[in-house]
Amino acid sequence: MTWQADADLVVVGSGVAGLTAALDAAELGLRVVVVTKDATDSGSTRWAQGGVAVVLGDEPGDSIDAHVADTLTAGAGLCDPVAVASILADGPAAVATLRARGARFDADATGRPDRTREGGHTAFRVIHAGGDATGAEIERALVAAADGLPLLTGHVAVDALRDERGAVAGLALLDDAGRPGTLRAPAVLLASGGYGQLYSSTTNPETSTGDGVALALRAGAAAADLEFVQFHPTVLFDGPATGRRPLVTEAVRGEGAVLLDRAGRRFMTGVHPLADLAPRDVVAAAITRRLAETGADCVYLDARALDGFASRFPTVYAACRAAGIDPVREPIPVTPAAHYACGGVVTDLAGRTAVPGLYAAGEVARTGLHGANRLASNSLLEGLVMGGRVARTVAADRTVLPPPGPLVAPAPAMRTAPRPVVQRAMTHAAGIGRDAAGLAAASDTVEAATVLAAPVDRSGVEDAALTLLAQAVLAAAGTRTESRGSHVRTDFPDRDDVWQVQSIEIVLDAGGQPVVRQARVAGAA
Ligand code: SIN
Repeated sequence: MTWQADADLVVVGSGVAGLTAALDAAELGLRVVVVTKDATDSGSTRWAQGGVAVVLGDEPGDSIDAHVADTLTAGAGLCDPVAVASILADGPAAVATLRARGARFDADATGRPDRTREGGHTAFRVIHAGGDATGAEIERALVAAADGLPLLTGHVAVDALRDERGAVAGLALLDDAGRPGTLRAPAVLLASGGYGQLYSSTTNPETSTGDGVALALRAGAAAADLEFVQFHPTVLFDGPATGRRPLVTEAVRGEGAVLLDRAGRRFMTGVHPLADLAPRDVVAAAITRRLAETGADCVYLDARALDGFASRFPTVYAACRAAGIDPVREPIPVTPAAHYACGGVVTDLAGRTAVPGLYAAGEVARTGLHGANRLASNSLLEGLVMGGRVARTVAADRTVLPPPGPLVAPAPAMRTAPRPVVQRAMTHAAGIGRDAAGLAAASDTVEAATVLAAPVDRSGVEDAALTLLAQAVLAAAGTRTESRGSHVRTDFPDRDDVWQVQSIEIVLDAGGQPVVRQARVAGAA
């Protein structure tokens, strides 16, 4: 049995970008439906710890220009400077809207938002909530504000519906009983997060399987910067383990903790002027090198000198205690793990993709803000700013775009490889430290395990998305013959200026296979 409904805007995903867009669009009078494949708060937003990087204007010595400069430095030459300036400038207004919707941030003794620091920031500008539970508070506030909006949980987006012009006409999906259905709409916003589940060990929840990027590629959009998978330097190590691993927020280092190797030696001094607070690609790569040099499984984060650890970092404290570690008395064992997709579906600064009617915002999108390495805590800010912008874009576009025409045939058949095969290949060959031979072998492994399959349930859709993302990330990583930001090639260990202005775009060929297209970075000299 099939089903059908309609709306002005379908939002895929219920994290910070999706719910912000849905709320703003509803306020603009659009009929919005939000679909999410799991529970409302099952995405990455609720796991974000550190906070929201924003210059609110009341902090002497800091400025939006300084935030822009830090973002460009962290992005290792591949940010779009226009995108960076534009998105960061809209941060204060976006945070004000969020606070008006009920989000409560931690305050200092004067009642102003308390600020912390994270890797790559030259100022204390990261506002936070519940100590280290910023994402959970944002998700709580947005879900409460969205009460009353049509929100379909357990509904899996499968493909965009398209008309004969190639414009989006809605979404094909599976409902919570696995029944196929369609939501007809002239606008679909992808706000479905990243693809950390490509790797065996990640800070991301089970839902981060790249569905949005895969859907956009299949609809004819381009994705870019996919090779820049950011590894968070400090994830709690409690023995070799797979799946979502507990994060130890960079704010712990922002407030004075330092990294030690297993001999108790600091190793970040001398690596970067900001030492333990270097941008996270630098820290993650330094940890990886130190682990190789010492043969250890983990390094240690020494937070013993911090006052009030349990109340300032309750989430980290609870995770440590659950693993039998007391961070007040002993250094915390940590390793890097896959954390954030710096690239994604290419959009303009209004959230439009190249496909009329298809929009993207948040981690799924590539606006040019992050370049080769996202600055810590810029992601929640981007979700807030771009979520709001997309709502306004959709409202404006519907007055000028013709309504969708008759539907044409669906996108090419999906190909899928078993998830453990994909995760092993990616973890082995496409983590921190990649080379041509390993990337090619991983591509062959994934290809050999791939079969044509029409997904009939959520895990089928996710496996197909992960397979396509693995192929695309491996292709992009194999093409970029240099090391830059979070893309570390052991066979090309240096930055190469030739790549300074080259963003690698991926599109699908007629058979649905990813192909590489190189694009000049917008705004680059
Ligand atoms: C963290 O709290 O360390 C993570 C913040 C982020 O990824 O932006």
